[in-house]
Amino acid sequence: MKKEKLDQLLEKLSLEEKVGQLVQLGPMFFSEGGEITGPMQAMDMTKTELYQIGSVLGTHTKEEVKNIQSTYLEHSAHGIPLMFMADVIHGYETIFPIPLALASSFDPSIVKEMARLSAKEATSAGVHVTFSPMADLVRDPRWGRVLESNGEDPLLNATLIKAYVEGYQGDSLLDPETLAACVKHFIGYGEAEGGRDYNTVDISDLVLYQNHLPAFKAAIDAGVKLVMTSFNTIRGIPATGNRWLLQEVLRRDLNFDGVIISDWASVHELINHRVAADKRDATFKAANAGVEIDMMTDNYQHHLVDLVKEGLISEEFINQAVMHVLQLKNDLGLFEDPYRSLDKHPEKEIIEVELRAESRRIASQSMVLLENQQAILPLQKEDQLALIGPLAESHDLLGAWSWIGKTEQSVTISEGLLSKTKQIEMVKDRHDYVKLKYVDKVIVALGEHSEETGEGGSKTEITLPQEQIDLLKEVYKWNQNIIVVLINGRPLDLTEIKMYSRAILEAWFPGSEAGNAIADVLYGDVNPSGKLPMSFPRSVGQVPLTYNMMSTGRAINEYNHTQKYVSKYLDNENTALYPFGYGLTYSNVKLSEVEVIDKGDNVTVNYTLINPSMLDAQEVVQLYVKDMVTEVARPERELKYFEKVFISAGASKKCSVNLTSEDIAYYHPDLIKKADDGTIELYLGLDSQAPLIGSWHYKA
Ligand code: GLC
Repeated sequence: MKKEKLDQLLEKLSLEEKVGQLVQLGPMFFSEGGEITGPMQAMDMTKTELYQIGSVLGTHTKEEVKNIQSTYLEHSAHGIPLMFMADVIHGYETIFPIPLALASSFDPSIVKEMARLSAKEATSAGVHVTFSPMADLVRDPRWGRVLESNGEDPLLNATLIKAYVEGYQGDSLLDPETLAACVKHFIGYGEAEGGRDYNTVDISDLVLYQNHLPAFKAAIDAGVKLVMTSFNTIRGIPATGNRWLLQEVLRRDLNFDGVIISDWASVHELINHRVAADKRDATFKAANAGVEIDMMTDNYQHHLVDLVKEGLISEEFINQAVMHVLQLKNDLGLFEDPYRSLDKHPEKEIIEVELRAESRRIASQSMVLLENQQAILPLQKEDQLALIGPLAESHDLLGAWSWIGKTEQSVTISEGLLSKTKQIEMVKDRHDYVKLKYVDKVIVALGEHSEETGEGGSKTEITLPQEQIDLLKEVYKWNQNIIVVLINGRPLDLTEIKMYSRAILEAWFPGSEAGNAIADVLYGDVNPSGKLPMSFPRSVGQVPLTYNMMSTGRAINEYNHTQKYVSKYLDNENTALYPFGYGLTYSNVKLSEVEVIDKGDNVTVNYTLINPSMLDAQEVVQLYVKDMVTEVARPERELKYFEKVFISAGASKKCSVNLTSEDIAYYHPDLIKKADDGTIELYLGLDSQAPLIGSWHYKA
């Protein structure tokens, strides 16, 4: 529909009809035949009001969408179609690895493909908008939602967020197999104090601009259509009622002109924060801040019209908000086709075959090999194996945000291994432990339940349950050739696991094809290539622990670490057990012939990767910088470049990377981002402990 038609449509709407477009409800409000439902009564909503709402959240099938859309349009005064939104986080019915696993691939092309395929499946079920990607930068593994994140680094986060948006939205939303993306949660939600979900956040403007905004900027620059406000406070005011945050930072500084949607009931929760006296006040605070869609509460439904009539909220704001919603529906082609060719999508079964194959491939690229002592991996076909542990035959492999995923159809670890070998003993209880003695290697499958992670899944401990550690110690008594496979959604304290195993494969929640992907990696059919997107601490007492910690006045180093008055712990080391960017391959790829060419306003680093093994490999090369003198305290090192490089068996590859002022610009106390002349140390390697390779004397 042409823009002027949209303007004419807007003109026709009453104030009540305009506000209706800003209301979002669940499918339970609509039922066959459209009679009054329980939820409608509970929300004191009339049928007229119901058939004025703008969007629906959380449908599951295309039949449900078709029924709701057709019933709605029969009753709609102006024929404005509903928009259908859902949480398509890492797949819809076919589930891919959790986002933290996808981030471990350090490969934006993998993330983009996952998003594209998720959109293909979700749109075949009638979904138009996904509440993804999540751009929250995270530093605290106690927070259950780290599993939905891209980890602790701003560059990795921004790079992958761009890929998600491009994958979901494709070249045009008129393509019925694309989804409109909603980047979330704006902003700072991952910094919840104590790692406790929904807790207070208090970060400086510098940290906000330097670390948290880049990923949202990347999403907006990639054309993301919606931004979701977060539950937490920023500068002491909840984001959902924060006018400075939404108008000066999001609309002005980031130049966002799409739809701003609240999080689930976050408008209403302004009352719980005690920054709003009641629902009317909460409505005023959220609308005044610029929230356009009120997700799943009746605050806008019951109070926004009155606030406009009383002149407290301008009709100009309402018109802008409604136009953003109508424009999005228009971008999706809903006015021309409210069903978006729903009956022309490929059959579910055909989509599923393609997506499962891709889920297996992507999962195998998202696992991180943390230990491989005495090259116990890859497994050999002739190896006599035993498999033991609570995750050995579990289907709980999809992760916490896999609503529609078919858990019981996920491929278990035992099924994956049995597809490769028959030489495997399934050891399930104590009187079978003796069998462990007579096999070559023992695979111990450990990890978390999906319910221990995700939203509302915060924990004070990040070690595995004691019974799992005790089981590992028991197995160790019978056979020390132990390979631990981990199914989990957060960095864990693996101190004891490391002591009683020779190999550790971090598999995360790998999704529908988990067992097959794990077996592919264990047998070397896929050379592991994942890297940690989040540091694994030695103890929860170190948290928050990231590689890019700021310099301090008394940093510990090789010369002062025995002194008392330096920044250290008395009972543990400062460093991570496994650092950001770390991960092994089966190929032991090396970096050589490193050359730094300092050209003043830019620098080039040339290097050669050598793969001495008989296996093709992928290695993630990482370049970090340390700006030696700055106006504000800056990190000990910052990732400024990474690339996943394919190197054939026995081959070498020459590579090059160039850094400019853009890469070293940082926010100064006045919140202006710029680079200073000065010395920049350069670190090049295969993880965040990369060695110093030289300096760049930057001069503008
Ligand atoms: C939840 C989450 C958000 C999700 C929304 C809709 O509370 O915070 O990430 O997209 O509600 O389900």
